[in-house]
Amino acid sequence: MIHKTLKPFPKHFLWGASTSAYQVEGASLEDGKGPSCQDVKKVPEGTSDLKVCADQYHRYKEDIALMAEMGFKTYRFSVSWSRILPEGTGAVNPKGIEYYNNLIDECLKYGIEPLVTMFHFDMPAALDKRGSWSNRESVDWFLNFAKVLFESFGDRVKYWLTINEQNMLTLVGPVIGTLMIPEGCTNILKETYQQNHHMLVAQAKAMALCHELLPNAKIGPAPNISVVYSASCKPEDTLAAQNFNAIRNWLYLDMAVYGVYNNLVWSYLEEHDAVPVFAPGDEEALKNGRPDFIGFNYYTTSTAQASDGTEKEGKKADQQKADGIPGVYKGFRNPNLLTTEFGWEIDPLGFRATMREIYSRYHLPMIVTENGLGAYDKLTEDKKVHDPYRIEYLRKHIEQIRLAITDGCEMMGYCPWSAIDLISTHEGIVKRYGFIYVDREEFDLKTMNRYRKDSFYWYKKVIASNGEDLA
Ligand code: BG6
Repeated sequence: MIHKTLKPFPKHFLWGASTSAYQVEGASLEDGKGPSCQDVKKVPEGTSDLKVCADQYHRYKEDIALMAEMGFKTYRFSVSWSRILPEGTGAVNPKGIEYYNNLIDECLKYGIEPLVTMFHFDMPAALDKRGSWSNRESVDWFLNFAKVLFESFGDRVKYWLTINEQNMLTLVGPVIGTLMIPEGCTNILKETYQQNHHMLVAQAKAMALCHELLPNAKIGPAPNISVVYSASCKPEDTLAAQNFNAIRNWLYLDMAVYGVYNNLVWSYLEEHDAVPVFAPGDEEALKNGRPDFIGFNYYTTSTAQASDGTEKEGKKADQQKADGIPGVYKGFRNPNLLTTEFGWEIDPLGFRATMREIYSRYHLPMIVTENGLGAYDKLTEDKKVHDPYRIEYLRKHIEQIRLAITDGCEMMGYCPWSAIDLISTHEGIVKRYGFIYVDREEFDLKTMNRYRKDSFYWYKKVIASNGEDLA
């Protein structure tokens, strides 16, 4: 569709950016915080641990002031479960509540709407010991945590996100450091999708609880969604793309919105003796949970061709790269796209295709909860960071949001990854995403000072013009 006139961004469009607790806060065992699975995992060789990160726990005032200077309308951050409940259940840590109270109040002081992710890859280690999401009780653990959050912060937080990238937890959990498989398990796929089922039920119940306790709040999921292209017009490739679309994307949104399992995924699980066990009441709970909007992370698209059985599941896999799944699809390197320094394909047009596809399937307002470019930024001697590559990446993606709005998609906001430099899921601090540079290296904490990158000034202009000035 080539439009002659573009529609503007909505007046109250939520411009902002994102982070997550375990990647940005640091203070990993301070003020009563219990360890999370991220604190006890073996970090990939050559990358920093998660003890200090960007030290936002101690520097949130400075960080929020910088976000306010950029003109943020929202800040998407996550709450560390084990900072609030050090054992995951049981006693609440008052210092944890105090920290998030301060963070929320600091945002509101500048008119920045907090957008709170309840769970971003950081299961309390104490609950990992009890079986993590494999344990049916995890549904109640999460619901109890949700209740504490709603009761403690619901008077000020209007926007909630349930589980960050549940699809990536399920598809590439080991890379992120989250997959907990009980010893002696003989069917890992079944176990993984049972965990996934518990998360789906927990999410549905948390959405229902949010509506019950906070009638004016809005809540939604935050999976990583990107359309899967067919590698060619061969019908076999198109079917493979549909397979991977279902497993990667639609399972999560069909369930969040309609409360039903996607039929292609269900048949794939049946084939592998991996269908999840429903506890009494699950079916109803899944139908009762309704999102008010869809949050989704988008980095790039995937491309699929027909499986020839040679795919090595898990090989070179991370959130955006995968070799394929035998019998389902084979990964295909899209020759039309350039890649980032870290090998992720760059596809702004695929972003528009993704927004169109989500909207036509679910007809709910959408907020982009992550999108961005990881790069080896350099601080110059005069303390500048020239990151034209990031500006170009973000500009091209914002242009596509405007086109999607003109296509008729309802867009609520845009929160690129990340507000400030933080530790990547598996590639350390050197894979930087922020508008704000943090002066530290992998193993040398240096000054931890904050510096405004060129993209900081550019984004400030974008926000001030409500997306009109992208130059
Ligand atoms: C998303 C996650 O998958 O991508 C973030 O929600 C993550 O936690 C981001 O940091 C970028 O990925 P990476 O692997 O480059 O850190």
